[in-house]
Amino acid sequence: MIKARKLRKRFGDLEAVKGIDLTVKPGEIYGFLGPNGAGKTTTIRMLTGSLKPTEGEVEVLGMNMRTHEIEIKRAIGVVPDEPKLYENLRGREYLEFIMNIYRVPRRETLKRLQELCEAFSVDYLNAFIGEYSHGMKQKLVVVSVLMRRPRVIFLDEPTVGLDARSAKILKLLLRKYADEGGSIFMTTHVLEVAERMCDRIGIINKGILIAEGTLEELRKLSKEGHENLEDLFLELTGQGEFDEIINAL
Ligand SMILES: Nc1ncnc2c1ncn2[C@@H]1O[C@H](COP(=O)(O)OP(=O)(O)O)[C@@H](O)[C@H]1O
Ligand SMILES: [Mg+2]
Repeated sequence: MIKARKLRKRFGDLEAVKGIDLTVKPGEIYGFLGPNGAGKTTTIRMLTGSLKPTEGEVEVLGMNMRTHEIEIKRAIGVVPDEPKLYENLRGREYLEFIMNIYRVPRRETLKRLQELCEAFSVDYLNAFIGEYSHGMKQKLVVVSVLMRRPRVIFLDEPTVGLDARSAKILKLLLRKYADEGGSIFMTTHVLEVAERMCDRIGIINKGILIAEGTLEELRKLSKEGHENLEDLFLELTGQGEFDEIINAL
């Protein structure tokens, strides 16, 4: 469903992503986990066609991003970390706009839309998007993506800004979509989120995929025998020397 080969991105002197290979299968929720600045957003933007890689290939649903960018974008759903929305539209108008440009079957979609709005407590569609908080915008984008039922969904830090109830509903819905054969690629810097939501986890640090596997497989990787993902994560990303840091402060 998603394939990246030797994916690389340079911004001037900085190489933000240094040759990443990954595959996401049908039915899988893949968690892309890493500290701030690791290259998660840069990677997801290349996978979704909003940023051109310096090198490497992206394939989604068996199509190559270089030759089938429009077809891929029509078929996938993307929830970016900072949704760029039209502030002068009302939520309802934005959803209408999305339904029009994606040419979705209208009756079906309206029914799903209503259910999704109830599930996520989106009861502010008549207000202007400019008046929404970050979380409210994010929920609107989540609803606009899920109402289309894309087979592949990308989410960049989806739980940031969501209240506990909405985060839980999102988790259950993504699980259901994956169980029905869809694929989910999500980034997070929060270990608990990866631990609770994802079938397979890739750990990225400084632009390099340093470990990948199920939670079980990742635990076995720990040289120091760390059982919980948090200690393993800190060991792998070289952030484990807290005593030194705390002493120096
Ligand atoms: N458009 C850009 N121009 C220059 N540098 C960028 C750009 N986008 C990201 N970066 C840099 O690339 C690195 C990775 O950023 P990003 O992918 O946003 O990390 P993450 O999402 O994991 O926090 C950071 O050092 C960031 O400053
Ligand atoms: Mg990011």
